[in-house]
Amino acid sequence: MTNTAYSRIARRLDAVRPSPTLAITARAAELKAAGIDVLSFSAGEPDFPTPEHICAAARRAIDEGFTKYTAVGGIPELRKAIATNIETRFGVRYGPAEIAVTVGAKHALFNVAYALYEPGDEIVIPAPYWVTYPEHARLAGADPVVVPTAAENRFKMRPADLERALGPRTRAVILSTPSNPTGAAYDERELAALAEVLAPTSALVVTDEIYASLTYGGFRHRSFVSVAPQMKDRVLLVDGVSKSYAMTGWRIGWVAGPRHFIEAILTVQSQATSNPTSIAQRAALEALVAPQDCVEEMRRRFEVRRDLMLEGLLAIPGVRCLAPDGAFYVFPDFSEVIAKLDPAARIGNDTELAAYFLEEARVAVVPGEAFGAPGHLRLSYATGEATIREGLDRMRKSLQKIHPAG
Ligand SMILES: Cc1ncc(COP(=O)(O)O)c(C=O)c1O
Repeated sequence: MTNTAYSRIARRLDAVRPSPTLAITARAAELKAAGIDVLSFSAGEPDFPTPEHICAAARRAIDEGFTKYTAVGGIPELRKAIATNIETRFGVRYGPAEIAVTVGAKHALFNVAYALYEPGDEIVIPAPYWVTYPEHARLAGADPVVVPTAAENRFKMRPADLERALGPRTRAVILSTPSNPTGAAYDERELAALAEVLAPTSALVVTDEIYASLTYGGFRHRSFVSVAPQMKDRVLLVDGVSKSYAMTGWRIGWVAGPRHFIEAILTVQSQATSNPTSIAQRAALEALVAPQDCVEEMRRRFEVRRDLMLEGLLAIPGVRCLAPDGAFYVFPDFSEVIAKLDPAARIGNDTELAAYFLEEARVAVVPGEAFGAPGHLRLSYATGEATIREGLDRMRKSLQKIHPAG
C-alpha cells in the first residue's frame, strides 16, 4: 500500500484482528466457487432454513408496509416478547426498558463494550473463547485478561481461576454458556460458585447465552442471573434468535440489563445503526411468540449429529474430545496427532493442520489457536449427517498419508 498521509488506518485498530472463523469460511467458499468439492465444518450457523412461519411474518411485514424506522431499541411488542421469553426460560423479570434489541448478539456485545468499557479496564475472558470477545475489549481500549481452562475441568473456569484473574481494574467478566468453541456449559452449582467469587467485587457479568436452547444429553441450561438474582444490577444478559431459530442472516439479538446501562447502549446504537431492521424484528417477534416446536426439532437433530461427530473423531487415533453439553461445535485436541505426524509433512501446529485438511482432504475446520487453545480444532456439526461421515472419513484418510505408521 502507498504510504501517503491519507492512507492511515485509525490506531485503535492496531491490536484488532478480523474474525478468523469468517476468514476460513470465506476461503472454503472460494474453493467451492472454483468448482472444488469442499466439505465445511467451519460454519457457525445452523444449516436448517429459517422456519416457514417466521419467514411468513416477514413477508406480512413487507406487505403491510412495515418498512420504516422503528424505535431505536426495538418495537415495544418485541421487547415485551423478549421479556416474557427471559422470564419463562430463566425465571427472571425484566421490563421492556431494560431490554435493547440489536443487530444480532454480536452487536449487543459490541454495544456493551463500547458503552461500558474504558481504556485501562480489564475484561476477564475464559479461554477457549469466542474470537470476538477480546477484539471487542480492544476496540473499546480495554485489556482482555485471558483465563486458561483445562480439558480436565471440561473447559470451565473454576472459582480459583476467576479469583486469580480479578483485580482492581476488572470491569467485566464474560461468561459464554454453552460455549463457542467447546460446547461446555456451566451448571447451577458452578455458576453459584463463580457468583460467590464475584459478589464482593464490582465486576460486571456479561453472559452470552446465544446457544442456551441447544443443549444435549439432558443438560439443563441455567442463566447466571437466575442463579444469582441478587447480582441482577450488574448482569448484562445477551441472547438472540440467530442460532436457536436458524436466523443468522436476519440479524436480531438483544441485551437485557439495568436500565441506565441499556440507555447508554441505546445512545451508542442511536448513533451507529439506529433500529435493527423493521422486517427482521417482526420475524423475531413471530419466532418468540409462536409455538417452540421448531427449536426442539432442530435441537434433536443437532444432538444426533453431535453423537455422530464425536464417534467419528474418537475413531481417529490420538484424538481426544469431550462430549459437548451444548451449542453445535466439538473441540477435539489434535496435539498428540500432530506430534506423531511424519516430520516431512511439516505440520507443527493446529493452523498448519487445518490448512492441510483444507488442501488435502477438502475439509474446512477452524484452528484452535484462533480461540486461544492451540493444538485443538473446532468442528461445527451444524451440517448434514452425510457430510459429517464423509468429512471425517476424508480427514482420517488424509492423516494416514502423513502418518509414519501409514
Ligand atoms: C458465542 C457467540 N455469541 C454470539 C454470536 C453472534 O450471534 P449473532 O449472529 O446473533 O450476532 C455467536 C456467533 O457465532 C457466538 O458463537
